[in-house]
Amino acid sequence: MKFRWADRMSRIGTESAFEVLAQARELEAEGRDIIHLEIGEPDYATPQNIIDAATRAINDGATHYTPASGIPAVREATARYVRKRTGVNTAAENIVVVPGSKNILAFLLLAIVEPGDEVIVPDPGYPIYRSLVSFIGATPVSAPIRQSNDFRLDVEEVRSLVTQRTKLLIVNTPANPTGGILTREDCESIAKLAAERDLVVLSDEIYGRLTYDGEHVSLYGIDGMAERTVLLDGVSKAWAMCGWRLGFGAMPVELARRMDTLMINSSSCAAAFTQLAAVEAFESEESDAAVDAMVGEFRHRRDILVDGLNRIPGISCRRPAGAFYVFPDITATGWDERELQKALLDEVGVAVLAGSTFGPHGAGHIRLSYANSVANLERAVDRIALHLGAGAVSPA
Ligand SMILES: Cc1ncc(COP(=O)(O)O)c(C=O)c1O
Repeated sequence: MKFRWADRMSRIGTESAFEVLAQARELEAEGRDIIHLEIGEPDYATPQNIIDAATRAINDGATHYTPASGIPAVREATARYVRKRTGVNTAAENIVVVPGSKNILAFLLLAIVEPGDEVIVPDPGYPIYRSLVSFIGATPVSAPIRQSNDFRLDVEEVRSLVTQRTKLLIVNTPANPTGGILTREDCESIAKLAAERDLVVLSDEIYGRLTYDGEHVSLYGIDGMAERTVLLDGVSKAWAMCGWRLGFGAMPVELARRMDTLMINSSSCAAAFTQLAAVEAFESEESDAAVDAMVGEFRHRRDILVDGLNRIPGISCRRPAGAFYVFPDITATGWDERELQKALLDEVGVAVLAGSTFGPHGAGHIRLSYANSVANLERAVDRIALHLGAGAVSPA
């Protein structure tokens, strides 16, 4: 059978993290030792109390379809969690529970964006923003995120990008791939702009629990924003639950109803027992303690990686305030970032991602995840240093 692909398939992108992971696995199958710094997921196990809650739920029969937007008690618990985190008076009817927060982005685009519309996306940014916006026939417009601005969105620059066709602004704090966070002033300026230009905003706060310096400021929580903002969040990153596939959105009720219809037409519902496990993640002290312990360890690893990279001539690495990525500038090494990605994997077995796979403004950078052990981070830094012609740089 020769398939004739729909035009839109030529516009869909991918996540290079999944591609590089596949290449790295092939090399491992040949017996090579690879250090994985391409991964976008915590290397921790899900806290045991959450696993126990899921097991109890399965044993108690939570193996059936649930209402499309989530089990009522889970939507209630999620609303409580959002209220606690953001101060917004969010109710269960504002919440849509989905199998992975990515779905919230897809559903929002399907619900409000027409072909030919423009969507402002962070560049560099999570590649799925750009991919899905193009896929539905709209135009992604790059909002540059620069190291010189501490990887914060430049709100005045965003203002200059808004046109009659702008439907949506996507903001991500803490950010993938840079680890940058927005300050309260940034969030207030974005809120002002959104109100002036009547923009809908998607605030992707999936890394909101993972901040090391400075608190996470929720854009959804800024006065007046809840009526025009979709908060995207989930359990993947904070509780090391990427494989459980459980995310949620908080949004105005009329939008939540549209997303309910989109859920009925796609996944039907998120898995019943992972929904119930999420309540344990949101509400138990043990789960909070697990997040705190993970954040403490990530901070330590971040510092080791940043200090190590900065000892390599030609690499300049900021100390990001959130998420678990660093995004060093490698231009002074003379390497093109895509060639460096390939060479580091093929020649020294370190899997990293070229910054330009996150958007054109990511050129001259690579992304490294520190969701790996201190020993592996030190080994990786030494391998990169040797590859770039410097000696080993980790302290003995
Ligand atoms: C910025 C950002 N948003 C959303 C997601 C999606 O998370 P999930 O679908 O696992 O909830 C990711 C995952 O890597 C991400 O980096």
